[in-house]
Amino acid sequence: MSSQIDLNPPRGMRDFLPKDWIFRQKLMRAFTDAAESCGFLRYETPVVDSYELFERKAGEEISEQLYDFTDKSGRHIALRAELTPSMVRLYFGNQNQFPSVAKIYSIGQCFRYERATKGRKREHFQWNIDILGERGVSAEAWLLFTAVRALNILGLDDNDFKVYVSSRSLLSDYLVSIGVNEEKHAELMVLIDKKEKIPAEVLRDSLKEAGMNEEQIGQLFRFLEVKEIDQLAAFVPAENEGLLQLKELFAKAEALGISSYLKLNTSIIRGLSYYTGIVFEAFDVRKEFRAIFGGGRYDHLFLKMADKDIPACGLGFGDVVIEELCAAKFGRPETYAPVRLMMGYFNEELQEKAMSLASDFVREGIDCDLALSAQSPKKFFTQANKRGALLTAYLAPEEAEKGQFILKNMITGEQTVAELSQIEEAVRQISAVHV
Ligand code: HAM
Repeated sequence: MSSQIDLNPPRGMRDFLPKDWIFRQKLMRAFTDAAESCGFLRYETPVVDSYELFERKAGEEISEQLYDFTDKSGRHIALRAELTPSMVRLYFGNQNQFPSVAKIYSIGQCFRYERATKGRKREHFQWNIDILGERGVSAEAWLLFTAVRALNILGLDDNDFKVYVSSRSLLSDYLVSIGVNEEKHAELMVLIDKKEKIPAEVLRDSLKEAGMNEEQIGQLFRFLEVKEIDQLAAFVPAENEGLLQLKELFAKAEALGISSYLKLNTSIIRGLSYYTGIVFEAFDVRKEFRAIFGGGRYDHLFLKMADKDIPACGLGFGDVVIEELCAAKFGRPETYAPVRLMMGYFNEELQEKAMSLASDFVREGIDCDLALSAQSPKKFFTQANKRGALLTAYLAPEEAEKGQFILKNMITGEQTVAELSQIEEAVRQISAVHV
């Protein structure tokens, strides 16, 4: 091939080969099955939306990572970096089309001009589940149950990952109690969120720059070390709302059978400024990878964007980290998805017979690939093998005259002359073992 075009996708973007589809299909099914089995309704929004919708003023990284452009009519457009703003627009414009408490989900590709590293790309697919219209912590609990379900469907359990939970309102109340003015909180939380990614000294300096004094920084650092709910009594009063909500979440997680997945971690802040209450992020148990998913309550976003008081919580679950995690545990598929049957034939006279039979198989629900031209047996078997056919049915002139086929099990290599009914039986047997 001429090397006039660069054969790599743009930096940070991915191509998916046919063999990648085995895992991707599993993942997309896990997302949809988990969401739909828990009562979530699907919506979709365009991959681009107006720049204005995504524009933020809180100094969040995401606003600097937007891919934006002016279209041919002079509109300022951006590729979505997350699904949430478009979801808010869609819901706000069509509220009567949703149940009063709306459990909704979507899967879409998002674009962020990030430094491409392990677990972070410049494009990723994100599964979002959100619950709109419910103030109670039952909503967060049901969201987490649904996300855990998806991970369980993929074969991961509490030995593989944990969900770390915290509360922004709790942190906010604590900051007020140590004398940090509320107006500063949004800016401070963006900084504190970087805690795990930057050296403590760098964080200290930026907190000082943002107006915190040494004593307050020391107190904050002690707060961010808390990993047990009982230890919080030393920081906030027992009746603190954020604390009560966290306790309630742990009780509800128990009722839903997911408490072994949940852990308190007060250093979970989240990098997006719209969160107001409980926040959470899931990580592999060894914390080798970046966050598997993240989300929380964002009760004020609708108020800010649409002047409507709609309580909301939700989460985003990307396809990059989970793919790495599953590959580390289960390995990467080396070949593409098998097809149960492939039909070939010796000469062009047999082509239409083969076409008629292959189309019948497909109509009967047997996946069947068809050779599109006549091939010698050797060439056909090589092609079928490369395609990953489990069985092949080959029409050769002598056998075809008697209504027979050369049936080959591509896994064992066993070859027989068979009637049509035997092909169906062979497909049934091989399906029980391999599909
Ligand atoms: P986020 O934490 O920015 O939240 O992203 C959610 C998840 O998307 C991350 O945990 C990660 O799995 C994946 N993700 C994000 N950026 C990248 C990237 N550059 N490369 C690979 N994966 C990535 C949000 O986007 C919120 N809108 C989630 C939400 C929905 N909150 C409420 N509802």
